Amino acid sequence: MEVQCFRSIVSFKMFAVLLALLLSCFSFTPAEAYDALDPNGNITIKWDITTWNPDGYIAVVTIFNFQQYRHIQAPGWTLGWTWAKKEVIWGMMGGQTTEQGDCSRFKGAIPHCCKKDPTVVDLLPGTPYNLQIANCCKGGVITSWVQDPMNSAGSFQLTVGSAGTTNKTVWVPKNFTLKAPGPGYTCGPAKIVKPTRFITADGRRVTQAMMTWNVTCTYSQFLAQKTPTCCVSLSSFYNNTIVPCPTCTCGCPSNLKQLGACIDPDLPHLASVVSDGVKSNSLAPLVQCTNHMCPIRVHWHVKLNYKEYWRVKVTITNFNYRMNYTQWNLVVKHPNFDNLTQIFSFNYKPLTPYQNINDTAMLWGIKFYNDLLMQAGHAGNVQSELLFRKDKSTFSFEKGWAFPRRIYFNGDNCVMPPPDEYPYLPNAGSRNNASIFMLIITVVIGSLMKTVDHFSFL
Ligand SMILES: *[C@@H]1O[C@H](CO)[C@@H](O)[C@H](O)[C@H]1NC(C)=O
Ligand SMILES: *[C@@H]1O[C@H](CO)[C@@H](O)[C@H](O)[C@H]1NC(C)=O
Ligand SMILES: *[C@@H]1O[C@H](CO)[C@@H](O)[C@H](O)[C@H]1NC(C)=O
Ligand SMILES: *[C@@H]1O[C@H](CO)[C@@H](O)[C@H](O)[C@H]1NC(C)=O
Ligand SMILES: *[C@@H]1O[C@H](CO)[C@@H](O)[C@H](O)[C@H]1NC(C)=O
Ligand SMILES: *[C@@H]1O[C@H](CO)[C@@H](O)[C@H](O)[C@H]1NC(C)=O
Ligand SMILES: *[C@@H]1O[C@H](CO)[C@@H](O)[C@H](O)[C@H]1NC(C)=O
Ligand SMILES: *[C@@H]1O[C@H](CO)[C@@H](O)[C@H](O)[C@H]1NC(C)=O
Ligand SMILES: *[C@@H]1O[C@H](CO)[C@@H](O)[C@H](O)[C@H]1NC(C)=O
Repeated sequence: MEVQCFRSIVSFKMFAVLLALLLSCFSFTPAEAYDALDPNGNITIKWDITTWNPDGYIAVVTIFNFQQYRHIQAPGWTLGWTWAKKEVIWGMMGGQTTEQGDCSRFKGAIPHCCKKDPTVVDLLPGTPYNLQIANCCKGGVITSWVQDPMNSAGSFQLTVGSAGTTNKTVWVPKNFTLKAPGPGYTCGPAKIVKPTRFITADGRRVTQAMMTWNVTCTYSQFLAQKTPTCCVSLSSFYNNTIVPCPTCTCGCPSNLKQLGACIDPDLPHLASVVSDGVKSNSLAPLVQCTNHMCPIRVHWHVKLNYKEYWRVKVTITNFNYRMNYTQWNLVVKHPNFDNLTQIFSFNYKPLTPYQNINDTAMLWGIKFYNDLLMQAGHAGNVQSELLFRKDKSTFSFEKGWAFPRRIYFNGDNCVMPPPDEYPYLPNAGSRNNASIFMLIITVVIGSLMKTVDHFSFL
């Protein structure tokens, strides 16, 4: 019944407005980050004190990325905290603080960092072995839990002085901050937990940390995002209209073109203009001039209709000259994913936070083949085809059913075209009218059933 109601919604614009109204009734603050597609996703920072020293301790700090699809890409994580007392960092391995701070009170040996609020970054690959520890030196890049669990953690080691030297006198640091690389994460307080047990590689001996504390950080798109970074365009075999990304999704071409803030791909000296722009070493995208100005566009093409199956082609295009997206991923929501039969040239994993609903897929590239989405240009795209088995009770080419409900690229929401512009079947006949009352009822039921997804706000 509910599905039937859903399918009768025509004015999706109305739907969005109503949903927004509905959501505004739920009071939640941005700090209460919650991702409906990855409800348990978090980054956990674990401090293991491995040795007590005469004036402090040695700790191994490990950052675990327990998020299904959100990873930490170049230029990597930055971890900060505030010392509770007058602690200093004598030395570090596998990481470094960005500033030493004022160490003038020390004579003789000078600490690595005397700041009250140190900021730590990872070392780069290729660091000399005597500065490395296990799991370090990846330039701060940490993969998502699903894509590459082996590389979903990173570590560094600290020698801390002027600190407590027993588990009774030591003070846990406060006010942890994590940038990965931009804003978006909020970290809770450090909690003292059961000391970690380490098992040797041969499994024949178990050692134990002197003391362990955990800090949990969660992501919120509200904190992270100022403007969108990704948009969706649509097309189908049954209608030759290509519905482009909404104009000005990520910026307006008329303004940016004048400022020279985007790159015209038809320029005669494109390569040199691009390399000049890339050299400026900024984090901001340097994009091709398009109507949407987004660094990333995802195109969904409904390609073929068979008796029992239907086929979709997905293309991700990079318009950013300043970024090769390593280990990119896509999260797509469509009701037919529970009958996905075949997928070509991408990896696939269903994301099913609510056991009974299997409508969300995580897609990512195949290692050494298309896991690198190259910078803007002729090689700046990756594509795949998906084959779905039709479930006769729900399948339809009408009313945009064949198009995705939601898409995320690297965890960021991709802006969809307004649903009343979706390509539709020729002679689809009456786009039937649902009363406003029915719409509201449907929206309310639908939202309650599907759990409120905060992202629909954006
Ligand atoms: C963090 O994620 C891990 C793995 O999903 C989970 O076991 C743990 O409970 C989460 N921590 C918090 C505080 O949610
Ligand atoms: C501190 O160490 C003592 C023994 O050395 C142990 O019994 C106690 O549980 C530890 N406390 C914490 C918080 O780790
Ligand atoms: C915590 O850190 C943030 C950013 O580094 C800073 O603005 C804030 O004042 C700090 N709070 C405390 C209690 O130290
Ligand atoms: C602390 O973090 C580690 C690593 O993620 C985890 O194995 C452990 O269960 C956590 N402890 C608690 C009490 O959450
Ligand atoms: C992207 O990768 C290619 C090939 O590895 C390299 O030539 C290019 O400089 C990289 N571009 C950026 C912006 O890092
Ligand atoms: C979801 O559907 C896919 C495609 O049919 C299937 O391979 C997968 O096992 C399903 N997952 C769950 C948890 O039902
Ligand atoms: C689609 O998947 C669902 C859930 O896995 C299953 O119950 C149904 O029979 C499938 N439909 C077809 C046409 O394969
Ligand atoms: C194709 O879809 C568009 C809406 O995006 C519509 O304006 C157009 O009339 C459709 N074409 C045909 C042949 O139905
Ligand atoms: C939709 O409803 C409006 C007013 O309620 C009516 O004028 C219009 O003819 C209806 N359209 C269709 C296709 O039924």
